[in-house]
Amino acid sequence: MSETVRIIGKMKESRDTYTLEFKWDAPAVPGQFVMVWAPGVDEVPMSLSRVGKIKAITVKGIGEASNAIHGMQVGGYVRLRGPYGNGFDIKKGKKVLAVAGGVGAAALMPAIKETGCDTIIGARSGGEIVLDDVARKYSKNVWISTDDGSRGFHGNAVQLAKEKMSQKDYDLVIGCGPEVMLYYLHKACKEKGVDCQLSLERFMKCGAGVCGCCMMDDKRVCRDGPVFSSEELDRLSDFGTRKRDECGRIVEIR
Ligand SMILES: Cc1cc2nc3c(=O)[nH]c(=O)nc-3n(C[C@H](O)[C@H](O)[C@H](O)COP(=O)(O)OP(=O)(O)OC[C@H]3O[C@@H](n4cnc5c(N)ncnc54)[C@H](O)[C@@H]3O)c2cc1C
Ligand code: FES
Repeated sequence: MSETVRIIGKMKESRDTYTLEFKWDAPAVPGQFVMVWAPGVDEVPMSLSRVGKIKAITVKGIGEASNAIHGMQVGGYVRLRGPYGNGFDIKKGKKVLAVAGGVGAAALMPAIKETGCDTIIGARSGGEIVLDDVARKYSKNVWISTDDGSRGFHGNAVQLAKEKMSQKDYDLVIGCGPEVMLYYLHKACKEKGVDCQLSLERFMKCGAGVCGCCMMDDKRVCRDGPVFSSEELDRLSDFGTRKRDECGRIVEIR
């Protein structure tokens, strides 16, 4: 599905992160993403940070396309394709812990809203924590971690998740953030015997399973993911080790 939609809301989440809201009827489930067109610049994948009739994306300005999206204003229009990908598969009644790193919180918000699960949001410093206000509306507990100790737990989100998993028996951990963080989160879940579903990022062109540029081993992240289960992650040798850049070159992650 491809549609041009009107922007009805724009909120500043932090120094470099904005949420854009739009009315869009397309069916979507938590964990799915859309391809967002920044005219004259690029088309980039963005997780839906809100699903339902009013949808949203939450964008961290790090390069040309994301900064061009930041330039979009309420009353203006944005061209979207999707929603794409599989989303999270969360059975009713499961005890879930959501673990977000930085703007990875965007991908988890719809699942947090649907399940009311416990949430950890981590970042390098307090000023980079986003969407904790939204999480607080729906989560039973919201815990913050910062690498520099400027807010909440002094340490990273995985260290805090390990602590919380020792205190409570969770059935499932869902996560999104930098891949190194997700690699160690997957490892921590295995040690604790808790299943996980993690949302991964790869460079994407079509977003719809056609071009093959988002391959991880034999999986297309845009089509078979972006959410992968513990068992799938165990089989992906590229997970936490390497990815392809925009030219198709293999780049080491760790
Ligand atoms: C499924 C999926 C969902 C995504 N969801 C979101 C989302 O909800 N919000 C969001 O802000 N972004 C999200 N992204 C990332 C987004 O698509 C772009 O990669 C990002 O905005 C950078 O695009 P750009 O053109 O602005 O920067 P680029 O010009 O591509 O990059 C600028 C610089 O930043 C570096 N860079 C690129 N991507 C990253 C990264 N992820 N982390 C750190 N450095 C990076 C580049 O190497 C380069 O040096 C998602 C990506 C995928 C695959
Ligand atoms: S982006 Fe084209 S196959 Fe995934």
